[in-house]
Amino acid sequence: MSNDKNAEFLKATMMGPNAMRVAEELASRLNINENMRILDLGCGCGLSTLLLAKKYGSSVFAADLWISPTENYERFRSIGIDDKTVPISVDATQGLPFANGYFDLLFTVDAYHYFGDTAEMLPSLIPFVKKGGCIAVAIPGLKYEFGKNVPDVMKPFWSAEVARTIRSLTWWKDLWSAAEGIEIVDIREMDCCKQAWDEWLTSPNPYAIQDKKMMEAENGQYFNLIQLIAKVI
Ligand SMILES: C[S@@+](CC[C@H](N)C(=O)[O-])C[C@H]1O[C@@H](n2cnc3c(N)ncnc32)[C@H](O)[C@@H]1O
Repeated sequence: MSNDKNAEFLKATMMGPNAMRVAEELASRLNINENMRILDLGCGCGLSTLLLAKKYGSSVFAADLWISPTENYERFRSIGIDDKTVPISVDATQGLPFANGYFDLLFTVDAYHYFGDTAEMLPSLIPFVKKGGCIAVAIPGLKYEFGKNVPDVMKPFWSAEVARTIRSLTWWKDLWSAAEGIEIVDIREMDCCKQAWDEWLTSPNPYAIQDKKMMEAENGQYFNLIQLIAKVI
């Protein structure tokens, strides 16, 4: 973000709290190298894909529902990572088109909460990661469960979809603890929450402009970023 040209690219490509910053912190907790094949699930416009391919030299399957593989391929070509990346369209709720044990790492930034909030999702993803590999997730969350007591300032923003997807660390920990075939390695609040949100709010993206009001109301009281890392056993 300190380089003007990079900042313009990042702002134009973000789809939420600065994915490059969040991916950087999540990746720093893992042992990633150039021999790995990684599934970047819910990659959006591919900022996390860029980090994994360029900084770590890994091969990355950039899988997303809303952003077309053609758009991502063009972007990956323009930034010189098309030899390391495979853009692909997937809907995680409909099953993934990969072989069992194909990936060393399943990496997902600011996307898992949209589809991962059921008891079935994590068990459905585990087979795609080889034994000893990891599933690493970073998502926006809450410092505590609101339940029925949504704070007054948050009520205007608390749609059924937000209530379904934005949960506390304890809620996610309980969900993951029930899954077989993994060992939880590290569940924690991430350090980059404020910075990643502040950077997103500088983006010209209409959703960022919309989120400004919510973040002013929230004022650092309720939101966090949650990191979940589990090893496949
Ligand atoms: C807020 S965007 C974040 C994108 C990107 N990871 C980032 O941080 O910039 C959420 C992403 O989740 C993806 N997503 C939502 N539901 C999905 C599903 N069922 N399967 C795959 N991806 C999904 C969307 O396509 C979208 O790109």
